[in-house]
Amino acid sequence: MPNPDLNIPIDRESEEPIYRQLIRQIRAQIDSGALATGSRLPASRELADALAISRISVVNAYAELRASGYLSAHAGRGTFVAGSADTLAPMANGAQVRALGAATTSIPAPVLDKSLRELMNMARKPGIINFGPGAPPLDFVPVMQIRDAINHAIERDGAKVFGYEDPEGYAPLRASVRDYVSAFGIHCSAENVLITGGTQQALDLVMQSVLGEHDVMATEDPTYIGVLDLARTRRMRILPVPHDKEGIRLDILENYLLDHQVRLIYVMPTFHNPTGTVMPLHRRRQLLALAHQYRVPILEDGVYHELRYEGDPLPPLMALDEHHNVIHASGFTKNLIPGLRIGYIIAHGSIYERLARIKATADISTPGLNQRAIQLLLEHGTLARQLERNNQELRRRRDAAIAAAERHLPPSVRWTVPQGGLYLWLELPREGPNAAELYLSAVQMGVAYAMGTVFHANGGGTYHLRINFGAFKSDQIEEGFRRLGRAWRDLSRNYADYEKALLL
Ligand SMILES: Cc1ncc(COP(=O)(O)O)c(C=O)c1O
Repeated sequence: MPNPDLNIPIDRESEEPIYRQLIRQIRAQIDSGALATGSRLPASRELADALAISRISVVNAYAELRASGYLSAHAGRGTFVAGSADTLAPMANGAQVRALGAATTSIPAPVLDKSLRELMNMARKPGIINFGPGAPPLDFVPVMQIRDAINHAIERDGAKVFGYEDPEGYAPLRASVRDYVSAFGIHCSAENVLITGGTQQALDLVMQSVLGEHDVMATEDPTYIGVLDLARTRRMRILPVPHDKEGIRLDILENYLLDHQVRLIYVMPTFHNPTGTVMPLHRRRQLLALAHQYRVPILEDGVYHELRYEGDPLPPLMALDEHHNVIHASGFTKNLIPGLRIGYIIAHGSIYERLARIKATADISTPGLNQRAIQLLLEHGTLARQLERNNQELRRRRDAAIAAAERHLPPSVRWTVPQGGLYLWLELPREGPNAAELYLSAVQMGVAYAMGTVFHANGGGTYHLRINFGAFKSDQIEEGFRRLGRAWRDLSRNYADYEKALLL
């Protein structure tokens, strides 16, 4: 039987959207124990009728509660209470749980729960312009040069190419990375370079080496979804720190550093994913000073650093750091070849030693052939030439995206023009459908995107969406935005009528 005690007063005058009121109240009832684990919730239609609200509000609320692990859905049986904030990601002890209070997230389920995953899978159909994934453009991949590099490596090194490589990386590549990052102002020796399986593994290794289970990592809010997934899988806790046009809010970060046992600060100072923000120099310096003062290491993700098509480059945090308090992670994925899975970490001292041990345990070694191919592409200047050409084209695609957004989206949609990277972060007007509500119509219209909520550890981003314009040619960008605009207008019209009808 559905739980009969579900008492949810809805305030129609409130500025808080109805579905968020539902989320807040259902969460509170689960956390207080009023709704016990395992109890069944009314079907969305039943609850919508009982509360005289739109069914879409209930569907959205249930979806978000499922995404954050509060509810679970069983096909044909209904929606059930799965757990509370305490049971979702338990801290080492109860005091810490209470101390972290509202600021700490329950850490979202890996990316999305089943129903949202299914939604996203719908976007895989042929003919859909899917702006959702964070992949770099495949038409940029220098296929012939890669083939030549691979052939060259095999001819030169023979069977050695297929042996186990040194766990810390192929020595010539470590030296090439040292030279490569020196152009950004990061000066280190090849012994400070650890080669990894992409940036994702670099982030995972750093998190594992610094954080234990239930330890807390502060991140920008919103942040890179892959890090939220890692935290979930490794049972670590995320402390989301609000983010503004200049990056992580240091006033709030400092309060958190005072109140909580933060063990690591993860940031993307240049072309932040998903918002595209660049942290200005003064904030970089302040962040370094703050982290040093509280003795908390910084994990800097530089994977978009080189994808700049406008403005002057800024030094990565590691280039400004005088205390070896920054660990730098990046890769040759977004800027060259995602599929060869070559990334790197630059770190010093005991942390480097620890990282090297964890890396060897994780996968013994990164494939030697791929490392040699990347090393040759660096040595031959292929990456430098690619970057120059790719960034010019990315700028054209960015301009096409902005022009198309201006042409096809309602004037009240807002964005900041990115100076680099692959993404446009759009904010929809509050009076229309939110990003989740728009998603189905958009897919039906033949376009998809990443919903803003998935980048937030603790709710938020409901009206935001991330568009990866970088992966598409200008004509597809134009067509994708045309479809998106049509989906928004169609839905807004129905949405207004539907909401009106329910209020009558
Ligand atoms: C900020 C950020 N870091 C890391 C990664 C992972 O990149 P890689 O393909 O190098 O593992 C991504 C991929 O989307 C990303 O956006």
